[in-house]
Amino acid sequence: MGRVPRNRPGLETYDEDSLGFGRIFTEHMLTMRYRDGAWQKAEIKPLENIVLHPAALIFHYSQQVFEGLKAFVGQNPDDILLFRPDKNIARFNRSCQRMCIPTIDPELFMEQMSALVRLDRDWIPQSPGTSLYIRPTVIATDPFVGVKTGSEYLFYIILSPVGAYYPEGFAPVKIMVTDKYVRACRGGVGEAKTGCNYAASLLAAEEAHAEGFTQVLWLNAVDKASIEEVGTSNIFFRINDRIITPPLSGTILPGVTRESVLQLACDLGYECREENITIDQVIQAAQDGSLKEVFGSGTAAVISPVSSLRYRGKDYTIADGKTGEAAHKLFERLTAMQTGREPDPYGWVVNIGK
Ligand code: COI
Repeated sequence: MGRVPRNRPGLETYDEDSLGFGRIFTEHMLTMRYRDGAWQKAEIKPLENIVLHPAALIFHYSQQVFEGLKAFVGQNPDDILLFRPDKNIARFNRSCQRMCIPTIDPELFMEQMSALVRLDRDWIPQSPGTSLYIRPTVIATDPFVGVKTGSEYLFYIILSPVGAYYPEGFAPVKIMVTDKYVRACRGGVGEAKTGCNYAASLLAAEEAHAEGFTQVLWLNAVDKASIEEVGTSNIFFRINDRIITPPLSGTILPGVTRESVLQLACDLGYECREENITIDQVIQAAQDGSLKEVFGSGTAAVISPVSSLRYRGKDYTIADGKTGEAAHKLFERLTAMQTGREPDPYGWVVNIGK
């Protein structure tokens, strides 16, 4: 057990074992404004509130994009390890294109983000299951009440020392399958990491929470049959030794952890497939015993085993309600790579320390 921030007399410190997720923020933030058709000089400064005009476009029409990635201290205490930051930066820019927001030069993004993380390195927790969560965000700031694309933007990055995303920690979670609400449809913004996708998910999540479920599993908006993703993660099903996840069809988030899991699961000897899978196929597999496990994947959630699914009022217990073999191995492999405990043959881990 440790405390963050480390070695910093005079600052409030936090117990690493009870960080939760996204409640505590570090001392500094990065800001960069877009105006007159160009991104201006970035600035790193003490964390402070953002003051905006009440008509700022973000408040009315949600023109916004965000990302989430994590920093870890490596085996050498001078090492600060980021996991596939290039993927997050590329997805950020793709989301920006979809939301009519000017993109940011990936090299500049990486350089500025690294400088901020290095400055607040004492805040990176080191207990198992903890990390420094990095939240880059861009918002449209023009004060204007008509619907239009912004001409002024604020890009900022904040940092938060975190533990497990779910209150259950890394224990299995209960999921409610909804066919009452939908998250996204083709041609919409489902694959962009933009806040409005999450706002649209809140009512279903509230209803699921009220019935004791941690998350919602979304179905395809048109056929209400094919599986899409969970509220905060992509989803995987192990049917015997085959691991299946829905393909990227434009409606689900192209997860960095999802892509990594597809590779790591193959390395572990599973047959991996990106293919359509319907809720009826999942229920059938749960009933005939071939559904061995279900788990979510995401930056915040890492690998999140599912203990049960509720669909149309019936509950289906998965893997006796325990963490399955693949979820366990993938969690171990992923977190060992991210923290430098095991070798990274893919060059996914980037050391920004020293
Ligand atoms: C992440 O996994 O980093 C996310 O952004 C999901 C959620 C916290 C919104």
